[in-house]
Amino acid sequence: MARVFVTRTLPGTALERLAAAGHVVDLWEQEVPTPRAELLARVAGADALLCMLTDRIDGELLDAAPRLRVVANYAVGTDNVDLAAARWRGVPVGNTPGVLTDATADLAFALLLAAARSLPASAQVVRNGQWGAWSPTGHLGRDVAGATLGIVGGGRIGQAVARRAGGFEMTVLTTTSRGGTPLPELLERADFVSLHVPLTPATHHLIDRDALARMQPTAILVNTARGPVVDTAALIDALHAGTIGGAALDVTDPEPLPAEHPLLAAPNVIVLPHVGSATTATRGRMAELAVDNVLAGLAGEPLPHEVTVPAEAAGAEPDAGGTRPADT
Ligand code: DGY
Repeated sequence: MARVFVTRTLPGTALERLAAAGHVVDLWEQEVPTPRAELLARVAGADALLCMLTDRIDGELLDAAPRLRVVANYAVGTDNVDLAAARWRGVPVGNTPGVLTDATADLAFALLLAAARSLPASAQVVRNGQWGAWSPTGHLGRDVAGATLGIVGGGRIGQAVARRAGGFEMTVLTTTSRGGTPLPELLERADFVSLHVPLTPATHHLIDRDALARMQPTAILVNTARGPVVDTAALIDALHAGTIGGAALDVTDPEPLPAEHPLLAAPNVIVLPHVGSATTATRGRMAELAVDNVLAGLAGEPLPHEVTVPAEAAGAEPDAGGTRPADT
């Protein structure tokens, strides 16, 4: 019988499979992330951890969890997990790839369309009682059909966005790790730029002041990847200066974004609260994959969705003074 700490309530019935397998589920049931001190205390007796992208899984936490045999991250992104520190301690890390591809690509396209046609601003006009007579010059947006879409990152979600763009007869440019359109050229040519790269040291502030300066003054930046891929201060300046046309963001830096944050005062910006995967079915499927990873880890089997450590991090020192297990 193993003990599994689950850091948030999950939709669906996936957790029932842990109990059915004879494991004890220790669930943080509150509607806020598990506070750090509580997380450190609760993992002390845990054999498995099912955690969220809001939980920082680092050397300190892993050292506080001497029995831990598996970390199952309830997300496809794993930038909240120090993969090298987990590998150093022999703890496999799993994620939830594939099942949130369509939901996230749908949201990226919804943001693109909403920004192109200024939907939030137009809807607000109606709510404010300011809907005047139909006007040939009122509420003018940008054409999506036939426009050029630059997709930064050619993975599953980027490819799914490209398929949606095909239906709008867009010209699609893509950067990939193996080639595609060079980023500077993509930024200069695209009417819309959509980000689909994981957050790594190499992609942190990939869209910086220089990158934003390359974009067309009418171009719209869509980010459903991770907030720190964009330099927020540079984006705010670009929006105020009008060197880009707008931004539609599902992810920000920081998250959550405080209501008084200067990004929300910038013109032509739409911000959503990180809801790319937020459909009932998708979140249920993510739970099933996370539980699959937990069950495999506890059984001593390879995780079905194991995250491999990037080559540059594989030999890294642990970050918080952990001792290296004899078998690694
Ligand atoms: C992920 O899985 O990484 C997403 O950001 C969650 O919505």
